[in-house]
Amino acid sequence: KTVEIIGAPCAFGQRKLGVNMGADAMRYAGLVERIEAIGVTVEDKGDIKGPAINMKKYRSEQDGGLRNLEEVTEFCETLCNEVDETIQAGKFPLVIGGDHSIAMGTISGVKRHYDNLGVIWYDAHGDLNVADSSPSGNIHGMPLRALIGDGHEDLVNIGGYKNKVKVENIVLIGMRDLDDGEKKYIREVGIKTYTMAEIDKLGMKTVIEETIDYLKDKDGVHLSLDVDALDPVETPGTGTCVPGGITYRESHLAMELLHDSGIVTSMELVEVNPLIDVNNQTANQAVGLLGSFFGETLL
Ligand code: ARG
Ligand code: MN
Ligand code: MN
Ligand code: MN
Repeated sequence: KTVEIIGAPCAFGQRKLGVNMGADAMRYAGLVERIEAIGVTVEDKGDIKGPAINMKKYRSEQDGGLRNLEEVTEFCETLCNEVDETIQAGKFPLVIGGDHSIAMGTISGVKRHYDNLGVIWYDAHGDLNVADSSPSGNIHGMPLRALIGDGHEDLVNIGGYKNKVKVENIVLIGMRDLDDGEKKYIREVGIKTYTMAEIDKLGMKTVIEETIDYLKDKDGVHLSLDVDALDPVETPGTGTCVPGGITYRESHLAMELLHDSGIVTSMELVEVNPLIDVNNQTANQAVGLLGSFFGETLL
């Protein structure tokens, strides 16, 4: 199967410019060559064209606690159609960000092709805020909740329809920074969650095996990988670092087990910010993880 790379250089979901350069940082780190070397056919569609950045507006407080709502919406609508097109063409979509707000575009495009989509959210954060519960007004803290169907109408209706992800079809992995409203929501609706505590107790192997078992009857599974799931000591190039994270090695294991399972039907990798990285280390690791995800082995 052909992997089609879609660059989504969106920085509007948060306030640290540079995450819009994440896709190029991964290309510079050899993404295409790395996947091709496995024997997988790769096509790079290039970047989605998004709205221009107006620096005066970009970081400012905005109406309704949703910073750059229009820009995020526009970006996601374009991305949604691009991802839809890729799947229609029979290819595997690999979306490279960009901040995590783009998940609303990716998954809205993916979900057009599946009735019962599973979602693995590999992240330090739940990204389950609505404007009222958000401490920051940054939309990258809200995409999963908007995909479930709560939040601003423009976000909830990306792709022209709502309710893309069912709460019982989600697995959260790597959680260690949840806002009060998110904790309350997770408990209320009962989302399957592996916090760092569970990862420590069970080990990543069991966590992923249980995840695969939990999602095995879905007709598609989307993997949304936020690099801030990884520990910032090893993986510093991201805007919302939280100490005590998943190691690079554990993440390789997770990718290898997911590869072997064959259940994942689309993927995105987000929040790589080369401007706050050290020697492009984070993009290099991201590319390494994508190698494992697509079946790379040492021998
Ligand atoms: N929960 C925090 C917020 O709403 C942080 C969100 C971080 N999200 C991310 N995709 N890195 O602002
Ligand atoms: Mn196109
Ligand atoms: Mn995230
Ligand atoms: Mn995160």
